[in-house]
Amino acid sequence: MLTVALSKGRLLEPTVRFLERAGIRVPEGLLDSRRLIAPDDEGRYRFLLVKPMDLPTYVEYGVAAAGICGRDVLLEVRPDLHQPLDLGFGRCTLVVAGKAGADAATGNVLSTTRVATKYPRTAERYFRSRGLPVEVVYLSGSVELAPNLGLADTIVDLVETGRTLQENGLEVLDHIADSSARVVVNRASFHVRHEEVRAFLESLRRALP
Ligand code: PRP
Repeated sequence: MLTVALSKGRLLEPTVRFLERAGIRVPEGLLDSRRLIAPDDEGRYRFLLVKPMDLPTYVEYGVAAAGICGRDVLLEVRPDLHQPLDLGFGRCTLVVAGKAGADAATGNVLSTTRVATKYPRTAERYFRSRGLPVEVVYLSGSVELAPNLGLADTIVDLVETGRTLQENGLEVLDHIADSSARVVVNRASFHVRHEEVRAFLESLRRALP
């Protein structure tokens, strides 16, 4: 039985739909209840539901042989994992954003002194690579509040539809990276459980558009 970690949150529903197209049924009880672990009906897989940022840890430590998470998470955590497949769904962009309509003196990434984000390492790398020293304020959500309340000049966050930025009076100042759902595999499992991992990846590949 192969243990596969799935990301809770906005990727979960499209992930379950994709797995179904691949002929892999996530037990309904797992999504409707508070259960965080369950085997599929055929006993081929065992699924774990974990916080997106924790997913690489579960796979790196071999608790799960494989997992599905956003590229945004992989850019932030930089785990030592195989990343064999881009599944193409869950598309979004990591951006720097600030107050809409701010004048050039304040509405520019160059004038950022404090940045609020759920992605502290990605933000640090982005500003450092431009020679811009900034203070990174870590938040675990609702990051779009920060510029309007004076907690930060800019934010580094994900944009999918752009609605959250727009409804909070913010605009994109720069694009950092594109993201979509990726399959990750533990390096040891890739060799030791080669047949099971290969069959899992093959099912996913066949379901790609
Ligand atoms: C993500 C992201 C933005 C929002 C972007 O947050 O951090 O806040 O979605 O989506 P949009 O461009 O379609 O509006 P999420 O909904 O995962 O919640 P969180 O802020 O609690 O992390």
